Amino acid sequence: MSKGSLTVVGTGIRLSQMTMEARISIESADKVLYAVADAVTETAIKKLNSTAESLQPFYKPGKYCLVTYKDMVNRILSFLRKRLDVCAAFYGHPGVFVYSSHEAIQQARREGFRAVMLPATSAEDNLFADLGVDPAASGCQSFETTDFLIRRRKFDPTSHLILWQIGNIGNWKPERQDCASNLQALVDVLEEHYDPDHEVVLYLAAQYASCDPMIERVPLSEIPQTPISNVTTLYVPPRGIAPIDYVMLDRLGIPRALVRKAPQRNSRKRSSVKGRSRHTRNS
Ligand SMILES: C[S@@+](CC[C@H](N)C(=O)[O-])C[C@H]1O[C@@H](n2cnc3c(N)ncnc32)[C@H](O)[C@@H]1O
Repeated sequence: MSKGSLTVVGTGIRLSQMTMEARISIESADKVLYAVADAVTETAIKKLNSTAESLQPFYKPGKYCLVTYKDMVNRILSFLRKRLDVCAAFYGHPGVFVYSSHEAIQQARREGFRAVMLPATSAEDNLFADLGVDPAASGCQSFETTDFLIRRRKFDPTSHLILWQIGNIGNWKPERQDCASNLQALVDVLEEHYDPDHEVVLYLAAQYASCDPMIERVPLSEIPQTPISNVTTLYVPPRGIAPIDYVMLDRLGIPRALVRKAPQRNSRKRSSVKGRSRHTRNS
């Protein structure tokens, strides 16, 4: 008889991104629990394993998210305590912005069960591909937007900046709130570092293989006037090139001619974006 184990997997942003190891884990589990964002993935999980049970019913109007997430953890653990091999599937990467997955693994390990998380394709991975962003060039910083604002996170505006959950800034109540007015607070903070006409991207990765991503390019100052969903991610491109520390360059033995220099005067790049443009994969 099994001693019971927990495997946490991700299903990617669309079903076609589900990895082979995630599929095998779902297929072979004694019990599957899932929280996914689209009907096609849900149907596929149910076909792979007839024990599959949605964690969605734990979301209830007026219920705090943290209570919902803890209920999900308890449900997952309840099957583990029956010594079953349990698979918990979450959309995207199961370890990226998912409280219940990390908590279930920690709780399972505390109780002596084998518990592992398998990596998967996140919204950020899709963004790298769809927007052609390579973190190797100038680095990349990624923050949850409310956390970014309330803790005044330090960041480098000459690096790529990715802000998650911009459709939910300051949303602490159990009911879904209209957080549009909080977008101006975000713009005010970003305008301390970028010009108001700096071009940013409101990004939605395609949830279905047949669809294109939504890539809306707008001047920074226009974010509050732009429709934003609760799965929109904001991408802010670098403002310019960071200056070189020549003492370090020499110490590392790198020839000075090999590095790109920052402009001598004002390094804040002035974008010529005046209006909005919406692009899809084919445009
Ligand atoms: C609770 S987190 C879940 C992240 C997910 N686990 C992942 O790996 O991408 C929800 C946030 O992820 C981002 N997100 C989720 N789906 C997205 C999509 N289709 N396109 C762009 N961003 C998305 C948004 O920032 C959204 O507010």
